Amino acid sequence: MTDSSFRLLPSAFPTVRLRRLRQNAALRSLVRETEISVQDFIYPIFVSSGRYIQQEIAAMPGQYRWSVDRLPGLIQEVASLGIPAVLLFGVIDDSLKDECGSAAWDERGVVQEAIRAIKRVTPELVIITDVCLCEYTSHGHCGCIRDGKVLNDETLDLLAQQAVSHARAGADLVAPSDMMDGRVGAIRRALDQAGFTDTPILAYSAKYASGFYSPFREAAASAPQFGDRRSHQMDPANAREALREIELDIREGADLIMVKPALPYLDVIAKARQRFDLPLVAYNVSGEYCLVKAAAANGWIDEQRVTLEILTAIKRAGADLIITYHAPDVARWLSPR
Ligand code: PBG
Repeated sequence: MTDSSFRLLPSAFPTVRLRRLRQNAALRSLVRETEISVQDFIYPIFVSSGRYIQQEIAAMPGQYRWSVDRLPGLIQEVASLGIPAVLLFGVIDDSLKDECGSAAWDERGVVQEAIRAIKRVTPELVIITDVCLCEYTSHGHCGCIRDGKVLNDETLDLLAQQAVSHARAGADLVAPSDMMDGRVGAIRRALDQAGFTDTPILAYSAKYASGFYSPFREAAASAPQFGDRRSHQMDPANAREALREIELDIREGADLIMVKPALPYLDVIAKARQRFDLPLVAYNVSGEYCLVKAAAANGWIDEQRVTLEILTAIKRAGADLIITYHAPDVARWLSPR
């Protein structure tokens, strides 16, 4: 090897200059590795009992509780923005709640009615439903309680009933978020027995006991009346355990898997992406949303830039789909006008 050819080996500066491909927008765009698109988004919607309700959630500026009669307008807008899927949460009056959350599987319940209303307006929009009892129990826990403890096995049947009632109303996918052991299998068996063999399960597999859910709990009136969710949701300190949770959900029949929250758990998303081939969903939760909104409202950050950066990072870490309250805003920013 002569001296001069050695110098040309693309090993380091000055032969290598990474800034060459950053010179202008066209070059940067050409070599961009990750691109977010409206196709990646799932938009969460809070559906409230009652009528004529469009009530803003204080800690989630721009997000509302909607009564079923108000949904068609919202849904038409969501669909026209190109957002492919919505995730429904039920918000019910305290007077409708009981110890085991029986309103959750009421055939005329708020989520069941919302599914029918949405299917009438936009049959092609994918409807995913949150399966969990905390929005329906008087104590705000995700299952039945005995001696101050959230019961696991007794809760499984109830979750299964809730999932079947969502499928019967027309849900395209069901998404259990309760973190009971064995719930994906219990829901799969119940769906199959009821004839819904083709209804997929999106499992909230690695769901952490996170401080980032508090705006959601205000929105859904689902805060636990005593104690917390640390006996079933995951310890934020654990990543290997998340892979075990995901593996078990896959064995029980999950069709898609989820990591939640997203931004503080990018490492978990990346690990899950490496290990598993199923579609991977990340939930950019209420607390992540409100941090951006609050800082932007103060003029401390550029909302559009920071939001796009966060969502790109979540996708770069390995998520295929992102559940995000920012979806309509981002769809507007991304749409060519
Ligand atoms: C439980 C559920 C929660 C969220 C989604 N499903 C709250 C909780 O576990 O306490 C949180 C979502 C968010 O914060 O945006 N049904």
